[in-house]
Amino acid sequence: MMSSINIALLGFGTVGKGVFETIETHQERIQYYLGKPVKIVAVLVKNITKHHLSDSEVLLTDNFEDVMQIPNLDIVIDAICGKEPGFTYIKRSIEKGCHVVTANKEMFAFHGQELLSLAAKQHVSVGFEATVAGGIPIIQTLRSLLKVNRITKVEGIINGTSNYILTNMREQDLPFEQVLADAQNKGYAEANPTNDIEGFDALYKALVLSQVVFGEHPEEENIIRKGISQITQEQIENAANLGLKFKHVVKLEKQENHIQCKVQPVLLSNAHPFYSIEGVQNAVSINADIVGNITLTGPGAGKLPTASAVIEDLLHLFEKHDSVRLHDERQLEDQGEEVGQRLIFNQRLDHLCIVDSLEEVEQLQEGVFYIKGREADLTRFEQENDGVAIYPIEGNFQLLNKQQYANIG
Ligand SMILES: NC(=O)c1ccc[n+]([C@@H]2O[C@H](COP(=O)([O-])OP(=O)(O)OC[C@H]3O[C@@H](n4cnc5c(N)ncnc54)[C@H](OP(=O)(O)O)[C@@H]3O)[C@@H](O)[C@H]2O)c1
Repeated sequence: MMSSINIALLGFGTVGKGVFETIETHQERIQYYLGKPVKIVAVLVKNITKHHLSDSEVLLTDNFEDVMQIPNLDIVIDAICGKEPGFTYIKRSIEKGCHVVTANKEMFAFHGQELLSLAAKQHVSVGFEATVAGGIPIIQTLRSLLKVNRITKVEGIINGTSNYILTNMREQDLPFEQVLADAQNKGYAEANPTNDIEGFDALYKALVLSQVVFGEHPEEENIIRKGISQITQEQIENAANLGLKFKHVVKLEKQENHIQCKVQPVLLSNAHPFYSIEGVQNAVSINADIVGNITLTGPGAGKLPTASAVIEDLLHLFEKHDSVRLHDERQLEDQGEEVGQRLIFNQRLDHLCIVDSLEEVEQLQEGVFYIKGREADLTRFEQENDGVAIYPIEGNFQLLNKQQYANIG
């Protein structure tokens, strides 16, 4: 009898069930590439009474030690939530000599490097495509590009819940709380939405991306994390009058001697590649020195898109990954010299602490200001006006003259 590739599945929720079903429905194609049948031999859950498996040969257990006892176990797939016990389970699996695939971004953001080092020592591989932007093959794309291209910047809309809320607040002219409740009813937002709406989920994914692209995490002092819960209907309407849309965007950039990571709401003009990314869609944009700009868009979460990422990882597990990154000798420009723009809401000019070196300060209407200047001066302005609603504008935005603005406003 032909031997099989034996898999243990940790977690049998949205992702776990998607992986289980896809292995059944796509068995023939997977077997064609791997040369052997792929079999789920065990499923680990927290509450065993909630679950039933139609195949009685598959072990259903709530005890991880049962999984570790399985002889000839080849792969462990992690589809559970949170840093622990996921980290311990994956570490133990690697030590047992199993390849692993994980969808658990929070765990991987904090322990990814340690797991990759351990896996290299044990001569096994770790797949983590599903941790960032669900069905979009961003990790594989970055790996292919990184061989010769130098990646200078990665941007993304990588939290579908935030994008869904911002899209619906704008399109339906509704307040944040009402759209959040609707997202929770539709299953797009968790009962406890903090991770999504305050930018933690996007930050976990940014940390995973930073590790892949730059080989390290940004220092804590170079991380900005802001969520979307402070954005009001009025701000959205004011921005729309200027042709701008709020989007929650992650930006990772290599600067002179550090990695800058910004996870925050920004205002995009229609020249920006993310302008038309609406609802739960995700997008990731990569800037690289040879190819230029590439933008990938697609489903960032959900049962089958995430299962797709896990299954594609399964096929890549047996390839050798080169984790060594060439030292980048190139001198990078001083980003502080770049010119940027910001929009400021709900303020009076005499309440703002103005930095003299700003190039332009315009009041567009009662309480709404536009400022322009060198990024270094804008950063100083933001620091001196801590707590004020200030949003970056991106995508070649041209301010209409004030007369035109008065006409649309
Ligand atoms: N949902 C998505 O679209 C998506 C996309 C990308 C990545 N992810 C990541 O994938 C992972 C799974 O997400 P999900 O949406 O599938 O979650 P989910 O529906 O809540 O399912 C989680 C599963 O893990 C099991 N579990 C939780 N704690 C456990 C423990 N201590 N021991 C054993 N089993 C445990 C649960 O068991 P019970 O069923 O018995 O409670 C459940 O079956 C998360 O890390 C998530 O961040 C999800």
